[in-house]
Amino acid sequence: MGHLLLLRWILLLVAANIEAQRKPPINIRAKCLGNIMRVEVGPLGGSLLDVAVIMNNTAIVVTPSIAAQCGFSMKRDLFGNALIYISLQNCFAQNVDDELFTTALQLRLQGNQFSQEEVYQVAETCQYDVWASREVICDYNYMEVSVRRATPEDLPLSGHPLHPSKPSNPHRAAEKRSMDAGFEATTVVFFTPEGEKPMSVIAAQQRGYGIGNTPTRLVLRSPMIAPETFMQTVVGVPMRFFKTSTIFEKKWFATQIDAAAGCPVQEGSVFVTQNTITWYLPQQMDPITSSGQFNLLEVHFGINGQRLDAVEMQAREYSVTLNDFYIVTELPIGGVGGYYKSHVQGDLYYVSYMIEPMLELLWTEDATREQTRYKVFFHIATHLRPRPLELIDNTVPGEKMFRMMLGHFAADVALMNITFPAEVLSMPDCSARGFNILEHMSPNTSLKVFTLQVPFADPAVLQQTGEGVTVYSLHLTFGLLILDEHVTFSHKAYLKAVVQDIVLPSVSGGCDNHNFYVLVKYGSQGYNFQTTVGKRYMTPSLAQHYEYMENRTHFSFVVPFSALDVTVEAIEASSIRSRLDIVLINPETNSQIQEFSVACNFPSTLTECFPNGTMTALALKLESVPLLNPSQLTLADPSCGPVHSDDRYAFFVFAVNSCGTTRKFMTNTMLYENEISLPDELLMKKSPTSEEPEYHLKISCFYDINTSQAVAFNTRPRRSKPYAENSEGQLQVVMRLALDDSYHAFQNSEDYPIAKYLQPLYFEVELLKSTNPLVSLELENCWATQEEDGTSEPRWHLITDGCPNPADPYQVVYHPVWTDTRVRYPSHFKRFEIQMFAFADGKNDMSTKLFVHCDVVICNSKSPLGGICGGQCSNPKRTTKDQKRDVSQVYGFEYASLGPIRFNF
Ligand SMILES: *[C@@H]1O[C@H](CO)[C@@H](O)[C@H](O)[C@H]1NC(C)=O
Ligand SMILES: *[C@@H]1O[C@H](CO)[C@@H](O)[C@H](O)[C@H]1NC(C)=O
Ligand SMILES: *[C@@H]1O[C@H](CO)[C@@H](O)[C@H](O)[C@H]1NC(C)=O
Ligand SMILES: *[C@@H]1O[C@H](CO)[C@@H](O)[C@H](O)[C@H]1NC(C)=O
Ligand SMILES: *[C@@H]1O[C@H](CO)[C@@H](O)[C@H](O)[C@H]1NC(C)=O
Ligand SMILES: *[C@@H]1O[C@H](CO)[C@@H](O)[C@H](O)[C@H]1NC(C)=O
Repeated sequence: MGHLLLLRWILLLVAANIEAQRKPPINIRAKCLGNIMRVEVGPLGGSLLDVAVIMNNTAIVVTPSIAAQCGFSMKRDLFGNALIYISLQNCFAQNVDDELFTTALQLRLQGNQFSQEEVYQVAETCQYDVWASREVICDYNYMEVSVRRATPEDLPLSGHPLHPSKPSNPHRAAEKRSMDAGFEATTVVFFTPEGEKPMSVIAAQQRGYGIGNTPTRLVLRSPMIAPETFMQTVVGVPMRFFKTSTIFEKKWFATQIDAAAGCPVQEGSVFVTQNTITWYLPQQMDPITSSGQFNLLEVHFGINGQRLDAVEMQAREYSVTLNDFYIVTELPIGGVGGYYKSHVQGDLYYVSYMIEPMLELLWTEDATREQTRYKVFFHIATHLRPRPLELIDNTVPGEKMFRMMLGHFAADVALMNITFPAEVLSMPDCSARGFNILEHMSPNTSLKVFTLQVPFADPAVLQQTGEGVTVYSLHLTFGLLILDEHVTFSHKAYLKAVVQDIVLPSVSGGCDNHNFYVLVKYGSQGYNFQTTVGKRYMTPSLAQHYEYMENRTHFSFVVPFSALDVTVEAIEASSIRSRLDIVLINPETNSQIQEFSVACNFPSTLTECFPNGTMTALALKLESVPLLNPSQLTLADPSCGPVHSDDRYAFFVFAVNSCGTTRKFMTNTMLYENEISLPDELLMKKSPTSEEPEYHLKISCFYDINTSQAVAFNTRPRRSKPYAENSEGQLQVVMRLALDDSYHAFQNSEDYPIAKYLQPLYFEVELLKSTNPLVSLELENCWATQEEDGTSEPRWHLITDGCPNPADPYQVVYHPVWTDTRVRYPSHFKRFEIQMFAFADGKNDMSTKLFVHCDVVICNSKSPLGGICGGQCSNPKRTTKDQKRDVSQVYGFEYASLGPIRFNF
């Protein structure tokens, strides 16, 4: 609203009073306006103007009484100009044949304290030769009537010049013909309701009347209020009149010329409503018009003495209408034709509207058949109206300054100074401080406002910070002056502006196992930035791709960890560490508002381990090795390159028993490891100055031993056949390796050395060539070696004293033996199962081969005695070998061994 209002004001003058020393130059313009002349002087600002008339090189000061007597009036206009109205027939005019009238003025400007006195001279000659027989001028301070002089008709000589024989008919003046020279005006008779009042011309002049005698005309002038004038109401309008008869004498001749003027007064002829001034002027102003036939020939309206045409009147919404009795003039209050005048009463500001309308009539009357030109300058002042001063705060806190508008003032008010809590600044001081004070005037209200800007940074502005806001406040008092009257007044104001501290947008984010989640919260200035994700701008299509969502305060998006805009920082055993960089950019300055990075570990599926021993690995280019060409990466065996690659990754597929893969046994697991890097030959070629670190990506697979993941082993050339030592004698013992725990199928002897997966091994030991059902086969000790030699080290004890080795985490499991087609005497068999991992030493790679050995005891199964023959692990608490071996029950001792079983993990 404030802005709209401001726009409608036009800039009139830029702080005329800001620098009093540099007043605008005074303009002086004289203009002839029919039977008067107007001199415009100004703008006066606060100066006082003295007007003097120059005659015979002497300056005669025009006092109010001289003005009324001699036909001068002085007014002001909207712009602070003085308007001096001068009757062409003023007392001091140089008159050439009643056609050319010259008046010279001396203007003395008494400045305010800042300026020197200035004196100007102006002279103007006006031509006016269309005199009507009678011309009447009404101004606020005088009435003037000018009549054509006529030759005396057969007027009787009066016995005494001061006592004309009979009262003359005022209308007779119009019947006169031009008078001869030589007649001298001696006496003026004033007609008032109280009677006639003769007065010598000298005496009349001394009483303030103006009486002039030009070659063809007689001019009479009376101050508006004079003893010999009188009020009379004409069709309800009060008017002031003066009526005279002037007696001219020449020798013994005497003649007289009647002259009368009548002028309206404001009280009773002007009616003011809220918006309109209505002025009623009687059409026929008896007693200066005859009651006979009256013809109004012309009506002109003007402002400040200057006629306006119909178009102009309409534009200004002036209307002049005639009705039966009146000429009705309507004027809008506040229009440009007039101006407001300021008043201060008890600290309150008032204005009254002043306007100087002019009506100019031309009429004839049948009775005299002579024309009268009647011109009235009317001075209308409305009553004082309160105009409470208003300070409109147009501050836009973002502009970091107070903007205010103080108004509305009449044009006659100047802003002199501004008082702040700590100091008083004059207008030049304010300018120097950068307060930018301007005056703006409304084109159609004739009122003005002052606008002022005070930057928040100025010391006059108080600042208080806290709770995310800064409060700026300003106390000021405007020192104002009504120029004409030098009346001072002031207006206090307090302004406050709350500025939200600037909060920058903020970014937060997090991850789950698959995505980055980014939330951007707008700052105090809303969504006024651009966003980059990684190295790209967040375009609408990218936004769509990343599930962009927004509301009034936030936006969010989701970036998969494998997206192009994500940077890979590191690849770890089971995860990949990736980072997402978000930058908010001010699009105007291209500067960064906010930077945000979130890095997360994402569970990696970069390395996959398949049960069949196939490993796959995805090698991603890392941020730290920007120059890396992934296609050049290889596994530990440089002949193993990626199966496919691009500039961001290389993908490897290989078997765990190839490409230089190493393995390790750990508790319950087996670890296969390889490494992806640049082959040495490429590393050598790399520039020695390159700062790029080397790329080494360790990849590994854990196989859970418990779940018996199958892993392929290398095969070796086969060996001859399984064999058993000490196989001589009747009792022959054989050890076999079953394919599964059903013990139906066995490795063929020609399969050795056999390759085994990480499966349990199922052994069977059988007593051959015996049909004695009372004989049983018992396993006393079983162990494994790497060498064929059963006494070699290292050894793994599988069964000791018939029992599974208690120190072995993967203890041997016995399987019962039942009679079937193959098994006739179950006591001749023993079956057990061992986990291959029992051979892990936890530190080193397993040997590539394994031999299993057993000490076998053949017992008499009917013997109920303890010891080994008492049943396999029947008495695990035995502590000594001697107790254990009860030889009497033993038919014999056998030894069986099997191998090699190859484990090329
Ligand atoms: C000015 O001078 C003229 C002649 O020089 C004289 O007639 C006239 O009276 C003088 N007027 C005044 C006002 O002194
Ligand atoms: C000023 O004049 C314009 C156009 O003539 C008009 O629209 C506007 O309402 C006027 N303003 C006032 C305050 O009278
Ligand atoms: C400020 O201006 C006011 C009004 O014109 C005046 O009364 C007052 O003396 C001035 N103050 C100073 C310090 O000039
Ligand atoms: C906008 O979204 C943010 C984040 O989802 C939420 O915290 C906030 O309440 C939302 N605001 C509105 C106005 O919906
Ligand atoms: C191993 O298993 C994977 C997944 O089932 C399969 O893609 C691959 O071809 C297999 N490799 C071999 C050598 O059989
Ligand atoms: C494997 O089996 C052993 C013995 O039964 C057990 O202690 C261990 O926790 C198992 N390991 C896994 C990984 O299940």
